[in-house]
Amino acid sequence: MPLSDRERSKLDSGDDAAFYDSPRFVTHADDAFQARLTELYAAVLEPGDRVLDAMSSWVSHLPDQSYSRVVGHGLNEAELAENDRLDECFLQDFNSDQSLPLTEDSFDAVLCALSAQYLQYPEAVFSEFARALAPGGILVVSFTNRMFPTKAVRAWRTASMDGRASLVDSYCRAAGLTVTDIVREHREASTAGRSLERVERGTRVTREQPGADPFYAVVARQES
Ligand SMILES: C[S@@+](CC[C@H](N)C(=O)[O-])C[C@H]1O[C@@H](n2cnc3c(N)ncnc32)[C@H](O)[C@@H]1O
Repeated sequence: MPLSDRERSKLDSGDDAAFYDSPRFVTHADDAFQARLTELYAAVLEPGDRVLDAMSSWVSHLPDQSYSRVVGHGLNEAELAENDRLDECFLQDFNSDQSLPLTEDSFDAVLCALSAQYLQYPEAVFSEFARALAPGGILVVSFTNRMFPTKAVRAWRTASMDGRASLVDSYCRAAGLTVTDIVREHREASTAGRSLERVERGTRVTREQPGADPFYAVVARQES
């Protein structure tokens, strides 16, 4: 078991669904982080993939590629309704119920952005991600150093960034997934003058890179 009962504890043990009851139309990492995540997705996803964006919101960080199906999961209906990349969505508190209403082998990619710190039973939820993934499918779990601290599990709160990568690695392994890549990127706080290129709606644009949020991502594969 990756987490002990103490490690799964949260400062706020109140209902998670109530915590997310009001929509937050904000982003949870800086622009540079989000652009890097979109770039990673562009590198590992294929057009036509069936995608699950687990623990989603009004943004999915997906590149300008077309997918055959994008299912969003989250805790706030208004946020998911605002997310124009989703074809369908469902609400579920993973700390209350870890059985996902998803068919086996039905996704090519499961994405979990900026959210793994809130899972109290990550081994069970990641096993469900693994069950939903088709053979060869991938899981991408990304994170930075930001969080709602009262809702993050103790193991995450007290870990370094590399320790968090090890935690996610252990969640993937416990679910029978093969970890193929762990991305660790730190940026200087002052990046004035540096710029970042990315494709937005089919056009390559250059923007200032204002952010200093570290970019971490664990990529795992369903082999069987
Ligand atoms: C910081 S937001 C990240 C949202 C989105 N992935 C993004 O990149 O902006 C954390 C998300 O985790 C999800 N979440 C938090 N606690 C959860 C729980 N107990 N069960 C299921 N999802 C939860 C909610 O969907 C919430 O929007």
